[in-house]
Amino acid sequence: MTDFLLNRQPVTLATTDPDLTVLDFLREQAHLTGTKEGCASGDCGACTIVVGEPTEQGMRYRSLNSCITFVHSLHGKQLLTVEHLEQEGALHPVQQALVDHHGSQCGFCTPGFVMSLFALYHSDVQPSRDAVLTALSGNLCRCTGYRPIIDAGMALLEARHGDAFSAQMTDIEAELRSLGTPVLPEETKPDQSVGFWQPKNREELARAKARSPRARYTAGSTDLALEKTQRLANLNALIDLSQVAELNHLSVDAEGLHIGAAVSYTELEPVLLADYPEAREWLERLGSRPIRNRGTLGGNLGNASPIGDTPPLLIALNATVTLSNGQSERTLPVSELITGYRQTVLADDEWIDTIHIPRRTPGSLFRAYKISKRFEDDISTVCAVFYLETDKNDIVTCLRTGFGGLAATPLQLTDWQEPLIGEHWPALAVNDLSRTLAEALAPIDDVRASARYRVQVTANLFKRFHLETTQPDARTRVHGHGGSAHA
Ligand SMILES: Cc1cc2nc3c(=O)[nH]c(=O)nc-3n(C[C@H](O)[C@H](O)[C@H](O)COP(=O)(O)OP(=O)(O)OC[C@H]3O[C@@H](n4cnc5c(N)ncnc54)[C@H](O)[C@@H]3O)c2cc1C
Ligand code: FES
Ligand code: FES
Repeated sequence: MTDFLLNRQPVTLATTDPDLTVLDFLREQAHLTGTKEGCASGDCGACTIVVGEPTEQGMRYRSLNSCITFVHSLHGKQLLTVEHLEQEGALHPVQQALVDHHGSQCGFCTPGFVMSLFALYHSDVQPSRDAVLTALSGNLCRCTGYRPIIDAGMALLEARHGDAFSAQMTDIEAELRSLGTPVLPEETKPDQSVGFWQPKNREELARAKARSPRARYTAGSTDLALEKTQRLANLNALIDLSQVAELNHLSVDAEGLHIGAAVSYTELEPVLLADYPEAREWLERLGSRPIRNRGTLGGNLGNASPIGDTPPLLIALNATVTLSNGQSERTLPVSELITGYRQTVLADDEWIDTIHIPRRTPGSLFRAYKISKRFEDDISTVCAVFYLETDKNDIVTCLRTGFGGLAATPLQLTDWQEPLIGEHWPALAVNDLSRTLAEALAPIDDVRASARYRVQVTANLFKRFHLETTQPDARTRVHGHGGSAHA
């Protein structure tokens, strides 16, 4: 059984329809049709909802795409839609701000914008245009134009003073905490083929997988749910990793960052950017805010897509990944995890458990570039990541690369990069090197971009990295040898 609150109303659902999306539940079962379906693939934001969950710091409200969120993942949470915002006949401040600023015309996109702004209203971000743009990064509008909507968001942030939801939070938190624990596959039935299970720890996870060996793992479902909505697949048996305590663990020590595979990008953001601030734009362009609220590193590595953005970064940063089956574990470089188009070395009973990113060497230089058609919420045509260490004479002591969108698997150009060790970085013959880099590539040629374009762009990105790291201020940073040098 799955138990959650639909605003204040308790809902109990049998898990007989494991891949039912929140959107289908809302429109077809709860008959709440304010939440719209545009693309059914996480791209347009018409279906945005807000989910509240109790955390150690109290209730936390996040925007999600209901079209690609499985309803059973809501166990123990509060689901809010546009219908719930109006209180005692009065518009919520978010809705009022959109009215005041003329932020709606045909109105199809409006419920989604309202819910994204509602999540922003209940966040602790400082008012800024960037904060509004990030909150709205997953919402498309085809007729209003964005300026009035952004104006509404700005006005709202500057005048936040709590709402009816703020007043109810303590009660809601207590109610959510009292909901029962979700079911696991039954001890008595060996091979269970239909169900949605939410193990709470590694041991329960291993047992669930043993009892339902054909079950698919899901964490944020921002990739897997598209198999249902776009390819009409039936996902009859799902093991949700999002509540496994160990996979949600995020820690930093002298060795580096240790990131549980089910930690969302939004949770990862402050920790990753503390060590690698140059990754900010790359991270802000990975999906949109609602996608990052759900998507995980485990899911990005697990789908082994050639256009995934995290493998190039993890490979260039020399990250390792621990795989586990609950009994034993093994740790390998991320570069060895993905073996072919959507293929990994994972055994049937294994899952991706933790990703380890080493602490960076003081003074190192690093860039993560993403080329795509839309600024946010778009997959990469090319993703290129470069990591460089030099000695005090600017001699290269370490150069690592990671590329996505150029082959069936993420690439590291070891044969090209290794001869550069020992070279004087500022004096490199960059034009010659970008030509040899281009010659080393045989990229895919598809509807997103031609092979020729991908080669040219990648070679140009190397030139850009060289230019950016040989500017006077960057060279100061090479010699800086201090944490602040990474700013
Ligand atoms: C609108 C939109 C925009 C997107 N933009 C980007 C983008 O810019 N860059 C990008 O790289 N991706 C993007 N994606 C793809 C997706 O969001 C990411 O790949 C995300 O990291 C997937 O994580 P998840 O937790 O949602 O995975 P899920 O969908 O839950 O799972 C994905 C796959 O990995 C498997 N899996 C999940 N966790 C584990 C684990 N711990 N161990 C083993 N297998 C596991 C699942 O079985 C499944 O096969 C986008 C998707 C959408 C819908
Ligand atoms: S319907 Fe477009 S994001 Fe969900
Ligand atoms: S108001 Fe028509 S799509 Fe936004």
